[in-house]
Amino acid sequence: MPGPMRGRGAKFSKESLKMIPKLLKYLFHYYKFSMAIVIFCIVITAVAGASNGLFLERIIDDVITPGLKNGFDSVKDTLIFWMIVMISVYSVGVLAGLVYTQIMAYVGQGFLNHLRKDMFSKMESLPIKYFDRNAHGDIMSRYTNDVDAIRQFITQTLLQVINTAITIVYLMFMMIFFSIWLALISFAGVFVILFIIKNIGSQSAKFFMQQQISTGKVEGYIEEMMNGQKVIKVFNHEEEAKKDFVKCNDALFNDAKKANYYGNILGPILNNFGNLIYIVIAAVGFVLSYFSAYNLSLEGLITGSTVITIGIVASFLGMSKQFSQSIGQVSQQISMVALAMAGAKRVFDLLNEEPEKDDGYVTLVHAKRTEDGTLTESTERTGIWAWKHPHQDGSLTYTLLKGDIVLEDVDFGYYPEKVVLHDVSIYARPGQKIAFVGATGAGKTTITNLINRFYDIADGKIRYDGININKIRKNDLRRSLGIVLQDTNLFTGTVMENIRYGRLDATDEEVYEAAKIANAYDFITRLPEGFQTMLTHDGANLSQGQRQLLSIARAACADAPVMILDEATSSIDTRTEALVQKGTDQLMKGRTVFVIAHRLSTVQNSDCIMVLDHGRIIERGTHQDLIAAKGTYYELYTGAFELE
Ligand SMILES: Nc1ncnc2c1ncn2[C@@H]1O[C@H](COP(=O)(O)OP(=O)(O)OP(=O)(O)O)[C@@H](O)[C@H]1O
Ligand SMILES: [Mg+2]
Repeated sequence: MPGPMRGRGAKFSKESLKMIPKLLKYLFHYYKFSMAIVIFCIVITAVAGASNGLFLERIIDDVITPGLKNGFDSVKDTLIFWMIVMISVYSVGVLAGLVYTQIMAYVGQGFLNHLRKDMFSKMESLPIKYFDRNAHGDIMSRYTNDVDAIRQFITQTLLQVINTAITIVYLMFMMIFFSIWLALISFAGVFVILFIIKNIGSQSAKFFMQQQISTGKVEGYIEEMMNGQKVIKVFNHEEEAKKDFVKCNDALFNDAKKANYYGNILGPILNNFGNLIYIVIAAVGFVLSYFSAYNLSLEGLITGSTVITIGIVASFLGMSKQFSQSIGQVSQQISMVALAMAGAKRVFDLLNEEPEKDDGYVTLVHAKRTEDGTLTESTERTGIWAWKHPHQDGSLTYTLLKGDIVLEDVDFGYYPEKVVLHDVSIYARPGQKIAFVGATGAGKTTITNLINRFYDIADGKIRYDGININKIRKNDLRRSLGIVLQDTNLFTGTVMENIRYGRLDATDEEVYEAAKIANAYDFITRLPEGFQTMLTHDGANLSQGQRQLLSIARAACADAPVMILDEATSSIDTRTEALVQKGTDQLMKGRTVFVIAHRLSTVQNSDCIMVLDHGRIIERGTHQDLIAAKGTYYELYTGAFELE
């Protein structure tokens, strides 16, 4: 492994270590009480399980040895006593084990339920930017693959680790209690074992992290290829797609292979080392008990006052075996922990993402006019909307929502280093229709992305009815905008539900009305089940134009005072377009509308047409003005200059 990779590996495992307390904190946050019981029960189970050595020693030294010497009648009571103790201890152990596995079955699933819920609500709170920068399949993989790794940790590995840790500590105490010298031999062995684990374990942690990342990539790739099936087929890219997949998949295979290689060699190495310790203890134990039995002087020297009996040597062999086995289990568990922590890191990365910031405090409310003409808030739909503006002195003002949108010297770039819009100024008076035309990539969609605050501007100001839009709560801002996005997106559900998405409390009649305005009513009623027709993923069972009509209907249903139509009619035939235009003109009455269109016919009746070029407005005015000016718009219109 070359140097740089090694450095990265060290960082991975350190970072994954940090995940453990995070994950536990999260778990305890939801299940403090249950986890306390679980840990208590695990302690009991572990202690019961590790008490074999103690019992074996008592049976040999208190029952068998004196029994052989003095006859078994003399030790009958002692035997019965130890039998009862053993049965009680093991029964309690089994019972405790039953209790905690039952609790964990519930806690584990409940925890995942919380985790997925938190992930999803975090995802919903993230800015559009996050989705620009992360492959969707990779985000998906955090819900499936990474959450599953965490599940395994919580429901199995964690319990095993606690159990093993308690067993190890308990055995250490027992061994020291029985014979410090034999114990020291065992511990010396453990030091070597820990050294091996540290080296191999961190290697495997590194590759488990890598494996999780590769899994995300594979899933991201699959999802992209599924979405792009048609394009792949059209360009005969099946073979290339397969080749690229094989590359991703092989990378995953390699990482998984290495992760498991390091994870799996630990077990055998440690087992054999454990056997070695066993042999050494047997030999030393024999010597010590020999000295002990014949009262040779060496005994006092090395064992202090403790007498080494056969029972002690026998139970010690058992304990030291169990001890090194437990350490060996730790090594396997480390792989599992590493895998889970790699998953946890990706989940927490998502959970720790900065949510979309919203400092807005101006809200949108239904309003009515009192007799003297002032605005007040109303609990009913009045058709009048007002911005509710709380002030520092505790007073409230209401501003009528008119749809007056002003952009002043706005600069913006998706990335700080690349400015997309330069000094854009736009004045849209209430009820005006403002059109944007310009070549692909000129920045038309970007302007609308700023008005609805998908992205925040770098410099300049955007005012809505005189209020800086940064002060308006995003939900309310977006509620006041009816938006038809450039790429239509429909959800699984009926046509009715999809249109009602615009405004959930719309009545059936209002939905029909919206469909009529968008000129979608006719085609919908011709669908097999009319408004109840189920749309599959993204409306795949509709034509592109029909999808666009539905998304216009959806925006119409929202009944918002400001409309943004981004290329809304681009996939519609000219005859339908004329109809839609009539409908939208009706929809636009009294509303401020921003239209983006490639077809100049759609924008001719606009109050103002902005011609954009490379993020700058190079011309503005009515159709007549711009034609008279004989500039770019004129060239576009007369066909002397192509848009694309
Ligand atoms: N999410 C994004 N992240 C980074 N850059 C982007 C993003 N969206 C658009 N851009 C860039 O911003 C510029 C303007 O894009 P925009 O989508 O506003 O163009 P447009 O005028 O709407 O074009 P079209 O007519 O093709 O829809 C382009 O150069 C594009 O590369
Ligand atoms: Mg666009």
